[in-house]
Order: sequence, then C-alpha cells, then structure tokens
Amino acid sequence: MYICMCNPFTDKDLDGALKDDSVKKKTSAIYSACTGGEKPCCGTCICEIKDRIDAHNEEILVLAAE
Ligand code: FES
Repeated sequence: MYICMCNPFTDKDLDGALKDDSVKKKTSAIYSACTGGEKPCCGTCICEIKDRIDAHNEEILVLAAE
C-alpha cells in the first residue's frame, strides 16, 4: 500500500526504515530515508507516518519492559 503519493513509497519501505537503526525515528528522517532525501510536498501522508512511528516506539518500549 502506498503511504505517500507525492514521492511514492509504500508501507513496506516505511517498515524497512523503521527497522534501520541508522535512521533516527523522527518523521523527517524517516520520510527522507523512504524517499531518498526528498521532502514532503502536500503533507497528507505525515499523520500516517507519525502514527506508525508512534506504534513502532510503543512496541520497542513494551519489548524493553519484558
Ligand atoms: S502524499 Fe506524502 S507529501 Fe503528499
């Protein structure tokens, strides 16, 4: 499924960037990693990206607490 249509990348690209420890888990860094350095155009996809980063970070906290 495409996450961003302006600089197209998919949910799989996003998952890959979230797993890459060399990429900071900030929205701008993740977006840049998924698009090869591009910046958002319309911004429609930013909420979805932030939600996925939040879910990823919560998952890490849960795993760390176990
Ligand atoms: S849909 Fe991602 S910047 Fe427009």
